[in-house]
Amino acid sequence: MQDNQSNPRARLPLWAAHERLALWTTRLPLLAAVLLGGVACTVQALEQVEPLSLKALVGKRMFFDPALSGSGKMSCATCHDPNNAYAPANGLALQMGGARLDQSGPRAVPSLRYKDNTPPYADLADNPDGVSAPGPGGGFMQDGRADTLAAQAKLPLLSFNEMANKSAADVVAKMKRADYREQFLQAFGAAALDDTKLAFDYAAEALQAFQKEDISFHPFTSKYDLYNSNKIGGDLTPAEARGLRVFLDPNKGNCFACHYSGAGLNGSVALFTDFSYAAIGVPRNTKEQPAGAARPGHAPVYDLGICGRDDHAGPKNKQYCGMFKTPTLRNVATRKVFFHNGQIKSLTEALRFYNTRDTQPALWYPKVNRRVRKFDDLPAPYQPNIDAQAPLDGRKAGSKPPMTDEDLKDLEAFLDILTDGYVVPAKQAAQQTAK
Ligand code: HEC
Ligand code: HEC
Repeated sequence: MQDNQSNPRARLPLWAAHERLALWTTRLPLLAAVLLGGVACTVQALEQVEPLSLKALVGKRMFFDPALSGSGKMSCATCHDPNNAYAPANGLALQMGGARLDQSGPRAVPSLRYKDNTPPYADLADNPDGVSAPGPGGGFMQDGRADTLAAQAKLPLLSFNEMANKSAADVVAKMKRADYREQFLQAFGAAALDDTKLAFDYAAEALQAFQKEDISFHPFTSKYDLYNSNKIGGDLTPAEARGLRVFLDPNKGNCFACHYSGAGLNGSVALFTDFSYAAIGVPRNTKEQPAGAARPGHAPVYDLGICGRDDHAGPKNKQYCGMFKTPTLRNVATRKVFFHNGQIKSLTEALRFYNTRDTQPALWYPKVNRRVRKFDDLPAPYQPNIDAQAPLDGRKAGSKPPMTDEDLKDLEAFLDILTDGYVVPAKQAAQQTAK
């Protein structure tokens, strides 16, 4: 969204008021239940409720199979580690891939959790909040270029700096040698590996089925989920409750305007993204991103997000330059690098960026001829695309930032409870049932 005035999300007190009200009302049924004494205390374990289909089971084997790569050493799980919310466990802004594992990857690796409700990309996608004007939204990858998880899966298998297979035929040949070959044929039919094009489609379908069906991709086991569904153990600490208010306050964090926490598409709840795109002017990563370092004698290369896609090239698409997809904030506290280029290395810093990008730009951007070069990763003609919503509302350098230090601390405490795998402390659970 580019224009603060015409953007309905910028003035959306209704929603915020509703959520604030929810803060109060969702506590009441818990209280009632506790008073009635009928509450059993169960910590929800991560259980696969529905068994995986054959397609998903074979997709799971493939997801963890390093033989499906040019190097023979890299699987999907190398970059998407299931023990780290399907994001890398290391702190590299970009992961190394390629046939000799010496090629730097294109962008910071996103978590694969909570992707299954992502609609395909559209320039005028309806916003799940039901209020905002349609705009660029949906799609997989940080520029939305893949319509489905299946279409997406083909890209890393073939890209030269990731799994680096030479062709679809190369992948299919490896599938024929895999020890899950029989399982694959059972899932997709006895002739499923005969035709290369079809076989590659099936392979992608299997990877999609695994990501859609396996509960580890959408466990909903954070403390926030206990809070949101009014379960035992979901009581927020004062700091977390204040942080939630900062998150929802249109004049402070205003985070929910893009990291939407309400009911979404297909009955989804609280995905902490509305799948929309925005240009927020993340500083250039000159050290780690190959595109970020200007080689001597060469013009610098920029990662322009949506308008870097083949189908969005050219001057008529310049309003999309600099726009990247709003990621979910679930499990954000487990990330080691932030934003599409991994330039920012801690959640604390990411929040500080939101608070002081405009009020203290010198903290974030380089000085050229003693002037701060704001938005150094977006060429000047595209800078009008920078989103103008709070907290990044373009306020003057030196003016008061939207959040206080206390607000930032509380906000971080709130974001911490979006991490899956929360276990209610035994003492707290026992106390609550005893009441
Ligand atoms: C070398 C590291 C690497 C490997 C290996 C890898 N990925 Fe990724 N993955 C990435 C990066 C980087 C992105 C973001 C790319 C972009 O935005 O252009 C990504 C994005 C994705 C997305 C889109 C997420 C979103 O937010 O839209 C999915 C889904 C995905 N990968 C699945 C897979 C699957 C399935 C495999 C195995 C076939 C795989 N990846 C292998 C690095 C990797
Ligand atoms: C105008 C929409 C918008 C608003 C408002 C917004 N964000 Fe974002 N957020 C984005 C977009 C778009 C990205 C990805 C940008 C990129 O990679 O260049 C992002 C990325 C992030 C990331 C990095 C996550 C990751 O996986 O790398 C964090 C953390 C984050 N936002 C937190 C917040 C918080 C906290 C607030 C409120 C203070 C907030 N955002 C407000 C749109 C928004």
